[in-house]
Amino acid sequence: MKHKALYGTHDILPDESFKWQNFEDKLRSIFALYNYKEIRTPIFEETELFTRSIGQDTDIVQKEMYTFLDQGKRSITLRPEGTAGVVRAYLEHNLGEKSPLVKLYYFGSMFRQERPQKGRLRQFHQFGIEAIGSADPSLDAEMIEMAARICNDAAITDFKLHLNSIGCPVCRPVHRDKLLDFMRDKVGELCDDCKTRFMRNPLRMFDCKKKECTEQLANAPVMIDYLCQECQTHYSQVKGYLKELNVNYFENPRLVRGLDYYTKTAFEIKSSLLGSQDTLCGGGRYDLLVEELGGAPTPAVGFAAGIERFIIVLQMQKKFKFAEKNLNLFIATLGEDAKIFASKLIRELREKNVSCDTDYLQRSLKAQMKEANRLNAEKVLIIGEEEMKKGMAVLRDMQTGEQKEIKLSEIERIWS
Ligand code: HAM
Repeated sequence: MKHKALYGTHDILPDESFKWQNFEDKLRSIFALYNYKEIRTPIFEETELFTRSIGQDTDIVQKEMYTFLDQGKRSITLRPEGTAGVVRAYLEHNLGEKSPLVKLYYFGSMFRQERPQKGRLRQFHQFGIEAIGSADPSLDAEMIEMAARICNDAAITDFKLHLNSIGCPVCRPVHRDKLLDFMRDKVGELCDDCKTRFMRNPLRMFDCKKKECTEQLANAPVMIDYLCQECQTHYSQVKGYLKELNVNYFENPRLVRGLDYYTKTAFEIKSSLLGSQDTLCGGGRYDLLVEELGGAPTPAVGFAAGIERFIIVLQMQKKFKFAEKNLNLFIATLGEDAKIFASKLIRELREKNVSCDTDYLQRSLKAQMKEANRLNAEKVLIIGEEEMKKGMAVLRDMQTGEQKEIKLSEIERIWS
């Protein structure tokens, strides 16, 4: 075979795509319950939008973006995540003017040039939620509760919600200095990536999974001990709301996110079924991003989740009910006249919203029945030349195997 999907990309084939549709339908119904509206933004944007939002010193910007010059020599990047584009659209279309709190959700492909492995792809799919316009800790809690609700509704049993506060520009520099002081004489022991992080983005050292780094960071000062009064109050209010809402969380002071726009609340939901790429979803507050991208100061909070990772867990747990929509009717024909009749009947039935199909390969009756079976058709109508002349055909129920002669003029009534 000449062509193959590129490394780290995958096709979602028909025997898989219905599972995606089932899960997406479930999500859309949850988003509606929480009053979120869909937004669809382009899959590529100006590179600068991502470098400014995600942060110049993050792994995403440093190593993972698909960036190219277009014909007009503009630097373009395939979106590595959804938040930046959503905030850009929020500002471009003045969505904040229409409503002081804008609640949005999205689905879409994201692109990161990472080393592919289970649950990690170069083109992957996210669903995400952004609520732009409120600093209220009850909104953080609503969002976290929604993420947990999604896991519960998807019948995921083993998920764990990690919660942290990563402060704001007032308190973060204080912690940063303490962390740098603590790590200064240990830098030599760190992996190469963390040596760079020490210089450019020290908080990210906490995200390193390498043993040499986790050991060195074991007793390092954590952000939560240095929160300013405002961040502290916000954090305890978020926790208070979560308790009221009966959402179980695990306070993880080492939780940091891979994107620089976060302030205050940070959270992730992890599943042990996923192996090393164990994060199902992640997010938090990003109160400074709207301003950073040219808007008025506007607090915001959001999260996103990898759909592939959810599908992996759902398939492993086998508790979420995936259901493929069955074909209502397959029409098997014998002879050219029956075929012509069938083509008209199919059209009429489809107009009545009955899903149906027929044979286009001149197959034998036996082969047509086999095909109907393969397609999971609920019923098969067998139209033979002689019966058709009498206005009759045979209807077979594929579940029960029951077969009866029926009047062709009555066929539509079965589904009305
Ligand atoms: P993120 O943590 O970079 O956050 O990604 C969110 C989720 O996308 C991850 O938890 C994971 O499930 C999935 N994901 C990330 N990279 C890959 C990959 N290479 N392959 C498969 N799945 C992946 C964000 O993207 C933020 N925009 C979330 C957010 C929204 N924060 C506020 N609003």
